[in-house]
Amino acid sequence: MNVKLSNLHAPNPYFANLEAHSDHRFIETGKNRIIEALAQNNFELKIGSISDILALKKFINLNCRKLTAEQLTEAYLFSSIQYGELVLIYYNKVIVAFHLTCYHFVPHKISAVIYVAVNSMHRGYKLGVLSSYYSSLLAFEKGCEFKNTWIAPDNYPSLVNHINYEGFSGIDFKPSMFLPGQGRIVVSFKLTRLNLLYNRIDMGKLKEFIANPNIEGEFKIINPENENELLEFISSQQFKISACIPTETGNINFLLTK
Ligand SMILES: CC(C)(COP(=O)(O)OP(=O)(O)OC[C@H]1O[C@@H](n2cnc3c(N)ncnc32)[C@H](O)[C@@H]1OP(=O)(O)O)[C@@H](O)C(=O)NCCC(=O)NCCS
Repeated sequence: MNVKLSNLHAPNPYFANLEAHSDHRFIETGKNRIIEALAQNNFELKIGSISDILALKKFINLNCRKLTAEQLTEAYLFSSIQYGELVLIYYNKVIVAFHLTCYHFVPHKISAVIYVAVNSMHRGYKLGVLSSYYSSLLAFEKGCEFKNTWIAPDNYPSLVNHINYEGFSGIDFKPSMFLPGQGRIVVSFKLTRLNLLYNRIDMGKLKEFIANPNIEGEFKIINPENENELLEFISSQQFKISACIPTETGNINFLLTK
């Protein structure tokens, strides 16, 4: 059987059976399902406000890299929360994860992800993905057309989450976005109902696609840390990153498609 490049996605279980409902019902039911799934593991999701900045800054200082903690100042958090959305996840009344976005309305209505982090003891519960799904519903509700962010090419958990679980595509590579040698992959997600409904990469279809010699369309498989290939294929806008392929050595490769 031929697997088409356009058909690597599977339905998101949190939005199952909501196709026929109004946008309002789709968003509200999706939010409730995420909150209920988290509650089953005793996690509590809350929308944060500027009154949470001190607790959030404490979480960031304890759980994020020094450079990130220096960049996420109280003032920066204030302006992001004021003009964006903060999703907080608590365990025993303590913040264990956050997802922060800021809205931009030029040139498109965009929800820009400022940062997402889960503390090391609570990784593996999909808190990063669930807080991001919730934030996507909030952005969709606000009428945003895209959700965008940038990721270091060696940040495999974040790349897997954004590309394989949330439906983002890698659309550009900036070799030194902040400092020389600190390149970032620019990823973007078009916020439509259909994309939200089918945002997960189906690993079975992905494996079948890679093993199938009768592939329709052009594709490439590259190592995320090969800057030359990222520049050659992605910055030229010829290809986009469509999926992360787990490797036997515990790393990932990128599947690039036209
Ligand atoms: C990114 C982050 C939020 C994800 O946390 P999480 O939602 O709990 O996700 P997980 O730890 O379950 O990892 C996500 C996926 O990456 C995979 N993964 C993790 N490390 C990996 C590695 N070295 N190679 C390949 N895949 C890897 C996991 O297996 C998982 O996929 P699976 O569920 O299909 O198995 C968390 O790692 C974090 O807080 N990192 C530090 C802050 C950060 O880098 N934020 C993102 C900035 S862009």
